[in-house]
Amino acid sequence: LIMKAVIPAAGFGTRFLPLTKAQPKEMLPVVNKPTIQWVVEEAVDAGITDIAIITGEHKQAIENHFRPIEKLEKILEMTGKKTELKEVREINELANLEFIIQKEQKGLGHAILCAEDFVGSDSFAILLGDTICTGNPNCTKGLVDLFYEKNANIFSVERIKFEETKRYGVVSGTKVEEDIMLVKDLVEKPEPETAPSLLGIQGRYVFTPDIFTHLKSTKSGAVGEIQLTDAMNSLSKVQKLYSWTFKGKRYDIGTMRDWFQSHLELSINSEYSSVLK
Ligand code: UTP
Repeated sequence: LIMKAVIPAAGFGTRFLPLTKAQPKEMLPVVNKPTIQWVVEEAVDAGITDIAIITGEHKQAIENHFRPIEKLEKILEMTGKKTELKEVREINELANLEFIIQKEQKGLGHAILCAEDFVGSDSFAILLGDTICTGNPNCTKGLVDLFYEKNANIFSVERIKFEETKRYGVVSGTKVEEDIMLVKDLVEKPEPETAPSLLGIQGRYVFTPDIFTHLKSTKSGAVGEIQLTDAMNSLSKVQKLYSWTFKGKRYDIGTMRDWFQSHLELSINSEYSSVLK
């Protein structure tokens, strides 16, 4: 059984302008590497090697980061910078990466539809390209294991605060075991008073390719975007869809607060911790 991964990274990042005007938010540095590299490494650590990154025409930097740059490698070789050479080569060889251009930014659901041919008849994980998750096992690995165990679609959620419901897709369902719920309904950005629970969708999913049928029949919303949450809602009516409460940390790099926090918290356990002292 093959498990693939799709990393949507084609959005305009409007919440983080002007920073993201020319600089893709997925390329914003966290400690010593761009956000998207943390995300690719999470998929690789979950045992996935076939990965598609959905990017935009304005986001060439993402593809460049994973491409071999011959001149650079030659210079590193000539000047004896072995550690650096090893590091840049490792990036090129991380995974079998495919880059797919989303021509128009019609939302997350539309970005995933761009990967339909790449996914084919295999199951696949989705990792948002602007979101870093930590934890052991990592979030994607946890989901992949549960997907095989339950033989069903699954995604991660986290406990959110009452006043935060308007920023999340919120789930309702029946608890089947500790931290796992069989999903009945999903509501996008509800008011706190009407939210069915305080469990918010956080950006990691594993689906069978059947999700594509539901994405295709999902109508675009008010701002012309196809929402993944709507397709998941439709899927939950005909197939088993589970939510898993992930206990690790999650950073939404598209927000100033999480971006700053990720720097501080992720550098503490890295070789860069000394710079904080
Ligand atoms: P977001 O909604 O957080 O990203 O989507 P955005 O649209 O870039 O940012 P804002 O809301 O305008 O500030 C989550 C992920 O989905 C990708 C984004 O690049 C991000 O990694 N995405 C979003 C796409 O690939 N295509 C889209 O049309 C929209």
